[in-house]
Amino acid sequence: MYNSRIIGLGKYLPDNVVTNDELAKLMDTNDEWIQERTGIKERRWIKKGTDDSSAVMGAKAARIAIDRAGLTKDDIDFIVFATLSPDYYFPGCGVQIQDMLDMKTIGALDVRNQCSGFVYAISVADQFIKTGMYKNVLVIGAEYHSNGLDKTTRGRGVTVIFGDGAGACVLSREEDNTKGILSTHLHSEGKYADKLIVKSPSIGHWVPEILDSKEEDISYFPYMDGTFVFKNAVVRFGEVIMEGLTKNSLTKEDIDLFIPHQANLRISQFVQRKFGLRDDQVYNNIMKYGNTTAASIIIALTEAWEQGKVNDNDTVVLAAFGSGFTWGSVIIKW
Ligand code: COA
Repeated sequence: MYNSRIIGLGKYLPDNVVTNDELAKLMDTNDEWIQERTGIKERRWIKKGTDDSSAVMGAKAARIAIDRAGLTKDDIDFIVFATLSPDYYFPGCGVQIQDMLDMKTIGALDVRNQCSGFVYAISVADQFIKTGMYKNVLVIGAEYHSNGLDKTTRGRGVTVIFGDGAGACVLSREEDNTKGILSTHLHSEGKYADKLIVKSPSIGHWVPEILDSKEEDISYFPYMDGTFVFKNAVVRFGEVIMEGLTKNSLTKEDIDLFIPHQANLRISQFVQRKFGLRDDQVYNNIMKYGNTTAASIIIALTEAWEQGKVNDNDTVVLAAFGSGFTWGSVIIKW
């Protein structure tokens, strides 16, 4: 059995910064409410009319990750792409990456696990490498939320939280079993699917029916029971981090860097307190980018690495919780 190690990281955020004050012009909200409840000051929203999309942003992040890995596109054996906002209903974004990067006819897989998407995606890539099937796997998380949000007061509880962006990494074979991804831990609880959901269009409720219903049907906008999500998130984050630590005979004192999915700064701070971590042991950037769902962890990891915060032999913990519900953790020895 091999291990897998991240050897290249990249990110891409659209230029267009949308502040809380700008949102207050679209809906009944304000900077104070948003910052107090979520920690978010601004987010990036793709400007309509530009070429950016989940696949395009993912490709931009991927090119950087491959380059930083010292590889070329032809060294990549497989693609795993996590998103809840794909360019098309089908096919998935993975195959678009294969085309956009002019890659060999390697396999490409899309993962649809929302806020846990990156944790699930890297876990899939890790298994392919551990079994020896592939040597270099490209893992991407990207989201284009802004065009699918309800930008009226009706949607304010959800809309102020989400941002657009992409991150990517190259996961590569590592012969040293003490280095790289030590373990991944994945969970789901589908009975809470309707607590954070975009219901339509679905095959059972297709576009003409939505259009027929005129204004009454808003099932194509995200619905979130924010308080319920919050309460479950803080419990599951704690559990799945402990599960990962225990599996590797580690304790919370061993954590050098914790990168939580950037759901809400208050959730991250709650988990930080629970594990007694100092500010410099936790990396948050939700203040600048909002919640970018499947992209958030890989954008944050890339940014932390760019700032010299991820060092050799560090124990790095990634954890996520989100729609499904799904949640998971990744324990890495860098
Ligand atoms: N601006 C101003 N007021 C807003 C608002 C906004 N953007 N959104 C909601 N409100 C109002 C509500 O209408 C409500 O008003 P009321 O008391 O008159 O009915 C009030 O603020 C409180 O709303 P509530 O939803 O109870 O607030 P909250 O304290 O639970 O915070 C969230 C809302 C969404 C910030 C919070 O629940 C949360 O972060 N949940 C987790 C979300 C998450 O992480 N999602 C990502 C998936 S991992």
